[in-house]
Amino acid sequence: MANPTDSKSAKITRPKFTGGLAFVLAAAGSAVGLGNIWRFPYLAAQYGGGIFLLTYIILVITLGLTFSLTENALGRMTGKSAIGAFESFGKKYKWIGLFIFLIPVIIFPYYSLIGGWVTKYFVTYATGGSSIAAQEDFFSSFISSPLEPMFWGLLFILFCIFVVWKGVESGIERANKVMMPALFVLLIIVTIYALTLPGAMEGVKYYFVPDFSKFSFEMVLAAMGQMFYSLSLAMAILITYGSYLPKSEDLESSVLKVNLMDTCVAFLAGLMIIPAVFAVLGPENLNSGPGLMFVTLPGVFASTPLPGLMGAFFFLLVIFAAATSGISLFESIVSICTDTFGWTRNKACLIMGIIAIVMMAASSGGYGLLDFVTILGFQILDFFDFISNSVMMPIAAIITCLFVGFVVGTKAIDKEISQTSKFVTKPFYNVMLKFIAPVLVALILISNIVSALAG
Ligand code: PHE
Repeated sequence: MANPTDSKSAKITRPKFTGGLAFVLAAAGSAVGLGNIWRFPYLAAQYGGGIFLLTYIILVITLGLTFSLTENALGRMTGKSAIGAFESFGKKYKWIGLFIFLIPVIIFPYYSLIGGWVTKYFVTYATGGSSIAAQEDFFSSFISSPLEPMFWGLLFILFCIFVVWKGVESGIERANKVMMPALFVLLIIVTIYALTLPGAMEGVKYYFVPDFSKFSFEMVLAAMGQMFYSLSLAMAILITYGSYLPKSEDLESSVLKVNLMDTCVAFLAGLMIIPAVFAVLGPENLNSGPGLMFVTLPGVFASTPLPGLMGAFFFLLVIFAAATSGISLFESIVSICTDTFGWTRNKACLIMGIIAIVMMAASSGGYGLLDFVTILGFQILDFFDFISNSVMMPIAAIITCLFVGFVVGTKAIDKEISQTSKFVTKPFYNVMLKFIAPVLVALILISNIVSALAG
């Protein structure tokens, strides 16, 4: 096996986070995103509340931890982002990195477009438009208008590019140190507000008390897919951030903190949204799926005492969540370009930024001017989402498990983690990584493809 730390090309000037806290905030910033606030509550609502919550938590502490540790360790031991990390175990493995590199390249543009939608909602609420945002067709007419969503998406994307261009320490670290704590504060304020609405306690009960009769295999797969997405797993991101983690920091406890923060935010987001919808509109409205945040929730805000303020707080916190994730996606892309193609940070920001903007515009156009374009029956944004999250991500996850289990060797990972940590999860780590995880992820992949074909 090659010893990756000997690599001559390892850059002495590689940027690093200033410490464990900065790493935790940035990695949690990546993890906490639209997935937590938008996707988690509607999945939890759809799959029976408490039982979904319980399943999700069990998955995070088993499968999720295994993956997060692996990717971070891979990054830190090689000191490289995804392509370089795989390549340092042999030229023949470079393609794995290249494949994984494409995932953030596909996700970042449409994720930014949704970030742009959120920005539009925030501005609407902040300028006194809470009743406009609550109109039935506000969302659909906004996203299908030809230019406006592109404008907001562009604003969002330029912000992410700017932060990444500023660099790891003065850009990413700083942005996360402001946005993450602010996100928590806003989340707590809006959650308390939501819980005090009359009738909210019924929803709290639904959310907390597991109804075991609602347990199904489909629910487990949904929870697993959500976990991968939410923890930003198998998308080259944690390898990159792991490579910025100083060798002296406790890797295991940092990863535990990140996963804990991510799960807390998802949990609180459910607590903020599910009881409020229950109380104001009734439980049947919980099944609104992806429309929950953009359509149902404005309806909820409209019939509460402080619609404008709470709506603005809510969408601001979603902006923070989405921006810190968008930044991690773009950083991952840029880091790979600088490591692998030898580009400067400026050049990578420019070239990859332009590509992202074009793809963002196409995703937006898919709901408006380009709505006649469908790929495999999907609209453009949905296709990008499907191919990256439902197909490429599970493939990347399976390959990563097998690669680490059988090429790098779990011993090498053990060594990297044990350098600074107790590695308390070691007893189940090996079996999980080599055998259980690849099988479970293969099931996600099959079920995603089958449901896409059926749908
Ligand atoms: N984890 C982020 C979220 O929950 C999404 C994300 C996916 C971020 C992929 C980076 C990469 O929204």
